[in-house]
Amino acid sequence: MSFKTLGQFIIEKQGDFPYAKGELSRLLRDIGIAAKIINYEVNKAGLADILGEHGVQNVQGEKQQKLDVYADEQFIQALSRGGECCYIASEEHEEGIDLTTQPYSKDAKYIVCIDPLDGSSNIDLNVSVGSIFSIYRRKEKEGQPVAIHEVLQYGHEQIAAGYVIYGSSTMLVYTTGKGVNGFTLDPSIGEFCLSHPDMKIPEEGKTYSINEGNYLRFPQYVKDYIKYCQMEDPISQRPYTSRYIGSMVADLHRTMIIGGIFLYPETQQYPQGKLRLLYECNPMAFIIEQAGGKALSGQERILDIQPTQLHQRSPIVIGSKKMVEKVEEFLMENE
Ligand code: AHG
Ligand code: MN
Ligand code: MN
Ligand code: MN
Repeated sequence: MSFKTLGQFIIEKQGDFPYAKGELSRLLRDIGIAAKIINYEVNKAGLADILGEHGVQNVQGEKQQKLDVYADEQFIQALSRGGECCYIASEEHEEGIDLTTQPYSKDAKYIVCIDPLDGSSNIDLNVSVGSIFSIYRRKEKEGQPVAIHEVLQYGHEQIAAGYVIYGSSTMLVYTTGKGVNGFTLDPSIGEFCLSHPDMKIPEEGKTYSINEGNYLRFPQYVKDYIKYCQMEDPISQRPYTSRYIGSMVADLHRTMIIGGIFLYPETQQYPQGKLRLLYECNPMAFIIEQAGGKALSGQERILDIQPTQLHQRSPIVIGSKKMVEKVEEFLMENE
């Protein structure tokens, strides 16, 4: 059975974007190239002197891992060489990277926000990690330096978003606002092939995913919801199962496939929540909503938050629609 490659699929879907003359297709191709190169390193991390710390602290106050830096370099190289990207906001860079000074990126239309390597704490443990990307169309005329307001767009203005999961197999899952499609890397031909067409997240699930180590600091509505998940109720098949991998991409890919809910509320260490709006919450919220799920910061829809800083964080409750709505009920009761 021959599968459709990512490139063939993108060309086929070209019709969804009458105004685009192939730029978005080429941008997605460039992201796929970086993902394949990173995958090659991840798959032999233990043999490639790519494990462990890079010895530098990033703007997040995290100890950068070697693979954080390597993945960041690969995305920057692929995007700046591809000529379709005018600006990159990366978790690993305090300031954004303006590519309009580069000859063949000068007139590029697309801004890319990227989490080059998600789940860094799991790299040395051989546990699944990922990459996350979010694509916007610039608002000002091409050819001039990108202004920060062009980067700090609402999540609902995203043109495309996706993630790569470097797991038992490597998959690229993305949306351009017309549903979600999943591609599995076939290492024998080095191509991402369509394996999960039109992905939909189950409306209900039986798995909740949260770092319960922070329980004492959670807002009351979150504590109430965790207790709700743990109560015996055969009708709603509770108690639910608790699953927490510690890589957002892996926890949310499982949630996409079997349903469930993922929460990273505000904690003592992260009073605004830990996950970053521009390159973790927004892209994952766009994908989950396009698959029929829901994504809130608590009070509001993630995609309706007006960003004010590149690396701002947000609490997040995301997953199966009915489960997120149940959390909303607890939130309302506690208001
Ligand atoms: P990153 O590795 O890109 O910095 O992201 C790590 C994030 C996310 O992947 C995961 O859901 C979360 O950190 C786990 O945080 P805790 O270890 O605090 O639970
Ligand atoms: Mn991350
Ligand atoms: Mn990261
Ligand atoms: Mn990090």
